[in-house]
Amino acid sequence: MENLIKKAKNTHSLTKEEIVSLLKNNDINEELFSAADKVRKKYVGDEVHLRGLIEFSNICKRNCLYCGLRSGNKNADRYRLSEEEIKDFAKKAIGYGYKTIVMQSGEDEYFSAEILAEIIKEVKKYNVAITLSIGERTADEYEILKEAGADRFLLRIETTDEELYKKMHPNMSLENRKQCLLNLKKAGYETGSGCLVGLPNQTLESLADDILFFKELDADMIGIGPFIPHKDTPLADFDRNNFTLALKVMAITRLLLPDINLPATTAMETLHPEGRFVALQSGANVIMPNVGEGDYKKKYEIYPGKVGMDTIPKEYRDSIIKKIKSIGRTVSEERGFRKR
Ligand code: 5AD
Ligand code: SF4
Repeated sequence: MENLIKKAKNTHSLTKEEIVSLLKNNDINEELFSAADKVRKKYVGDEVHLRGLIEFSNICKRNCLYCGLRSGNKNADRYRLSEEEIKDFAKKAIGYGYKTIVMQSGEDEYFSAEILAEIIKEVKKYNVAITLSIGERTADEYEILKEAGADRFLLRIETTDEELYKKMHPNMSLENRKQCLLNLKKAGYETGSGCLVGLPNQTLESLADDILFFKELDADMIGIGPFIPHKDTPLADFDRNNFTLALKVMAITRLLLPDINLPATTAMETLHPEGRFVALQSGANVIMPNVGEGDYKKKYEIYPGKVGMDTIPKEYRDSIIKKIKSIGRTVSEERGFRKR
């Protein structure tokens, strides 16, 4: 096992079988996390990139079985920020020092490419990077948004297991999702993907395939989150703590894609009081704090127990920076593009 970790650390490649054996064996976890931490330091350094997240609409036409925002959840209290509110939160976040604004929403058709382009153009005047996380759109729309100034796009594949993908995503297809990722790359985005860890009937073999898919795609960012059950979804009773397994998938991803941006996800913090900081010491180099203000934030309930819901953006940022420094890391002053 130690040899496998060494191999991954030095060659950044593993076979599917090798990944599965690392995922299976829990005696090597500390060595694995420490190897990912060293590779992170060597390739992307000690800087942590902070990306200011605005969750601008929780309206979604999709019905993913795991997600609290699924259209079938009639208990969700829906909201949509106005264009002015989005720009206002973005400007405030830039004032606090954020160099990237992440605009995330459910698949809300109100926000046409034209409306989004107008917001992007306004925010881009402040010389920051913009990341979109708005789901599946046409290749043309991706191009319009890129043209308007968006730099990056997050679209998790969620799972590469064909059968599981079908079960989790009614009326969606894995093939189209993959095509969207290719369209994003073609349009010139820094392209992010990622997966959920701990879905019902998800195997270690399929998680290994997910990691190999990230490598094949040559993704620029990868977000990996433990699945957390939400009571108003069909998966309400599927309760398991997936923290360690998600951390392992993340660490192996760092070993195989050494120079990418890898966020310590909010879902990790939800399952472990120090989850994001454990992740930062196991391969991660990005944190995406929420920069919105007001009660609407609580309504973006993809899963329950999200951290940072009662915080004031400026104070939240300060507290995260303090924590980052306490583990011997620094906060980046740059926009934080992938450096190959
Ligand atoms: N637990 C953890 N993550 C979830 N997501 C959706 N539902 C859940 C859940 N119950 C993730 C998906 C999506 C991202 C925005 O949130 O991976 O891509
Ligand atoms: Fe909508 Fe995304 Fe939730 Fe699926 S995971 S229901 S696309 S918000």
